[in-house]
Amino acid sequence: MGKGVSPPVALVGDDMVVPCLDGTDRRYVNLDSAASTSALPAVVDAVERFVPQYSSVHRGAGYKSRRSTAAYEEARAALLAFAAGDPEHDVAIVCRNTTEAINHLAYRLRLEPDDVVLTTVVEHHANLLPWGRVATRRYVECGTDGTFSVDDVVAGLDAGPRPRLLAVTGASNVTGWLPDLAGIVAAARERGVPVLVDAAQLAPHRPIPPGADYVAFSGHKLYAPFGAGALVGRRATFADGDPFLAGGGAVDLVDLDEVVWSAPPEREEAGSPNVVGAVALHAAIDELGRIGWESLVAHEEALARRLRGGLAATPGVRLLGPPPEAGTLAIATFVVEGAHHALVAARLSAEHGIGVRHGCFCAHPYLIRLLGLAHDEVDRYRAALRTGDHRTMPGAVRASCGIATTDADVDALLAAVAQVAAEAAGGSAGVPAYEQDPVTGDFWPVSDRPGWQAADRGPGASCAVG
Ligand SMILES: Cc1ncc(COP(=O)(O)O)c(C=O)c1O
Repeated sequence: MGKGVSPPVALVGDDMVVPCLDGTDRRYVNLDSAASTSALPAVVDAVERFVPQYSSVHRGAGYKSRRSTAAYEEARAALLAFAAGDPEHDVAIVCRNTTEAINHLAYRLRLEPDDVVLTTVVEHHANLLPWGRVATRRYVECGTDGTFSVDDVVAGLDAGPRPRLLAVTGASNVTGWLPDLAGIVAAARERGVPVLVDAAQLAPHRPIPPGADYVAFSGHKLYAPFGAGALVGRRATFADGDPFLAGGGAVDLVDLDEVVWSAPPEREEAGSPNVVGAVALHAAIDELGRIGWESLVAHEEALARRLRGGLAATPGVRLLGPPPEAGTLAIATFVVEGAHHALVAARLSAEHGIGVRHGCFCAHPYLIRLLGLAHDEVDRYRAALRTGDHRTMPGAVRASCGIATTDADVDALLAAVAQVAAEAAGGSAGVPAYEQDPVTGDFWPVSDRPGWQAADRGPGASCAVG
């Protein structure tokens, strides 16, 4: 329950100042929470407290090993509860992130190439590509506003052959749209179709509803950037057969040509696990619990209205996805008419100290639809990319908020975007010069200002890798 702390809650590093092209240093405005979040102070405290007792888990008889093992198993229990898992029938598997969790599940479900996995065009690549490897995908389409209804999902569930799995996002990383997860899960369950919820974006912002068979999420989006994520799901799925990774820690007995695998979850965690990451995730979950979903959600709903409403009202800006009044996460993806998305993002960073992301956000099919790109346009972009030229890659700019975002952060973005949009409409007199790197598609200012000289540019740095 809440301890009297309401968001915004400062995160570690929030007070960082960054150099800008005009020679001033400004407080960094972080509007890139959907990519990765900074750490909660409680997470860093927990890690600092834990590190002195860190030792191997499940492999040592020493006192420190026992303490570490206990901390790891307590974290596992917290992950399970956080994902609304049932301790009797579900297990929590600690993995690196959502991508690994979904690949893990795709391997473990033992699908045949003709088996159908129903998924949607709204998904992040992490919830599209693993299914294409092991099964046949059927897609729920979206409308021009980037949403679909429960009925659309039902049509996909009822089409033959019956899907072996429904793999659906809990929240879009592009538009912040929240599908009606309760309705979708209920419809799938009525039809006996198991559901995976990609909760990478949902988990930091809303409670994970019960009912899904599998849930995947990442610590680095949940204020615990120490390299751990989780796959929570049916114990029975992992009870037989060889695990995703084979090796030590996953076995009870090995002879040269025979192996007795351990019971899950150990069977699924070969190799030394990321204990510090698990402890960090546990601390983040506890801290979110202390703050309480009620105040967290209220804070983020107000930010969503401010951000999306403000962008939609800015001349020269096109907000992608549902209208601002739709209840979404505080994420906004937008296009500035007449300005390349990479240039807008570069200008927000170099001139205003605002961190956003640009590109297609690892959700190319969704962006293609939101931007309304025709097949032949996509073919042209694909041909250019195959020659190593990223200059014309389509995309948009994404601003995303989290627990630490303030109204002032959003207002700073709105003012900066309004300025960039007005300059894009009215000519570029007085605007600093930027150069585009054809290999990455990114823009970089032509400047000798500290922090923005050619030598400051990281080798191979690119914001838009999809
Ligand atoms: C909706 C969604 N799913 C999956 C992922 C993949 O997460 P990770 O990179 O932590 O594996 C992301 C990351 O942005 C995401 O937003």
